[in-house]
Amino acid sequence: MRACAIAQPNIALIKYWGKRDAARNLPAAGSISLTLETLWTKMSVELREGAHADTLTVNASENNTMQKRVSACLDRLLGPGRPMADVASESNFPIGAGLASSASAFAALVMAASRAARLPGDVLSLARLAGASSGSAARSFFEGIVELDAGDDEIDVSCISAASAWPLRIVIAVTDSGSKAIGSGAAMVRSAATSPLYDSWIARQDQDLETARQAVAARDFEKLASVSEHNCLKMHSVMWTSRPPVVYWNEATVNAMEAIRELKQNGVPVFFTIDAGPQVKAVCLPEAQGTVEAALAATKGVRRVIASGLGGGARPLDNA
Ligand code: PMV
Repeated sequence: MRACAIAQPNIALIKYWGKRDAARNLPAAGSISLTLETLWTKMSVELREGAHADTLTVNASENNTMQKRVSACLDRLLGPGRPMADVASESNFPIGAGLASSASAFAALVMAASRAARLPGDVLSLARLAGASSGSAARSFFEGIVELDAGDDEIDVSCISAASAWPLRIVIAVTDSGSKAIGSGAAMVRSAATSPLYDSWIARQDQDLETARQAVAARDFEKLASVSEHNCLKMHSVMWTSRPPVVYWNEATVNAMEAIRELKQNGVPVFFTIDAGPQVKAVCLPEAQGTVEAALAATKGVRRVIASGLGGGARPLDNA
């Protein structure tokens, strides 16, 4: 009863920041994201009848911080009286640092555990289950450009542009690979309760989703750039005006944003987005990738640059 799966993280352009139902982890609004190609999390799940506890290793070391969320995810997927599981996760990028590691981790976990338990489960049902653990994980089941619709009772998730249809590139400027001070789940709840901007942020999401959908359908890079940067800065304004404030940026985050602004002024097709961490993600057209990589690598405080195309959704791996 062992199975393995792989999933890639995703980067939202129209962001998810706020829950309408914290118990079910349902988002207050929809989101649109890019599934990455070169970053991955591989997960192995072995179900062990008669064992008394789940175990978790992350990159070959025991991990207690994620254990509770992993066990809760397995409870939801496999139900009461489930066998305990030995879970082993391996990622090729820093985890817990705003690089969407929970998205790839929970997508790969749900895919591997459902295989290990021989559950039928279509992709959308698995995506919904993963979304109950990490909202963004639901999007990592699909390739290319992905839309998550908040839905009435349940979320809906689908690919709106295949990875090969519009081959955007993502260049990530890693400014700090340490763990973030506050996780996104707790920070969202704080924002909803305390930021005076929260209600207007949620009220305007449908408009940004529609603009981004139109930009993707028309392959209109300028339009996608404009709505994505605006949406990102609105989300961070909600974070900054929360009490206490939720600030993930550092000096190099701002330097990287400036470097991207300069490239844009010189006619390079590129824009930025930033999530719950200090890393800056530059999205560009393929011909600009080299220029963007070089500019970000030369930016003060940037430690490492990771480039990626658009990749595929979560999928099973042959048992290794
Ligand atoms: O899925 P979570 O709970 O890790 O939240 C993701 C939050 C952001 O990355 C900031 C935005 C998003 O839509 O991915």
